[in-house]
Amino acid sequence: MKISVYKNKEEGSRIFSKTFVNEINSILLKKNNCTICLATGSSPTIFYNELVIHYKKKNIDFKKIKIFNLDEFYNINPKSINSYSYYLYHHLLNHVNIKQKNVNLLLGKPANLKDYCKSVEDEIKKIGGIDIMILGIGMNGHIGFNEPGSNQNTVTRKVRISDNSREILSNDFNSQKDVPNEAITLGIKTILSAKKIYLLAWGTGKSDIIKKAIEEDVNEKCPASFLRKHQNLEFILDKYSTSKLNDSLQVNRN
Ligand code: F6R
Repeated sequence: MKISVYKNKEEGSRIFSKTFVNEINSILLKKNNCTICLATGSSPTIFYNELVIHYKKKNIDFKKIKIFNLDEFYNINPKSINSYSYYLYHHLLNHVNIKQKNVNLLLGKPANLKDYCKSVEDEIKKIGGIDIMILGIGMNGHIGFNEPGSNQNTVTRKVRISDNSREILSNDFNSQKDVPNEAITLGIKTILSAKKIYLLAWGTGKSDIIKKAIEEDVNEKCPASFLRKHQNLEFILDKYSTSKLNDSLQVNRN
């Protein structure tokens, strides 16, 4: 596990975007395609903006990049401004030369849920797995919508969104009662199958859960703690989100 700490989210997103672009380019050189899986939410927005800037400067070409995303509200219309599909088009996909056939965003309203969830797992395996996974972390330690109680063998499925997460999400909707109760999410096993995982977290609000995820027991109470089982994991943090971490941790302060 590597922990990289930056002055603030702007600096962290900017520097991380360069690392990410370099990594994509070296994967493309090696195998001529690259599959990434993206989180939504507030944590990666500046990073996506930086990617668009890199694209405009011709530092990255999305032609051979395949995209998956982590989660989607169940039953939501993809055109809704609250859908994660809308978010990804709005922040990134509308601004780069991604090919539509390479966009595999989760459907909120699949015709047959069970077959659909299996088909997502099959598709990821068929294309050779996810090269780079970008995660955020919920205040309760969720990754994707793998809420506390999700175990490390979980795969793509429909889940209940916790009351805690719904309360936080109510800022994006008119009120908490408008926040969907359920979502479709890749599982923890699916996330851990990625070759490289980056988790982005900013601000003092995330300092308690970052401490739990990095220092406390690995278990279902904090799903993000399972990430520590991964061989190629990097936390991209600002100094505020690391404020509760034990000083003895080997933190790479940039
Ligand atoms: C959304 C996702 C979630 C968010 C998490 C943090 O696609 O995967 O797990 O990453 O809820 O959200 P923010 O970044 O808004 O604090």
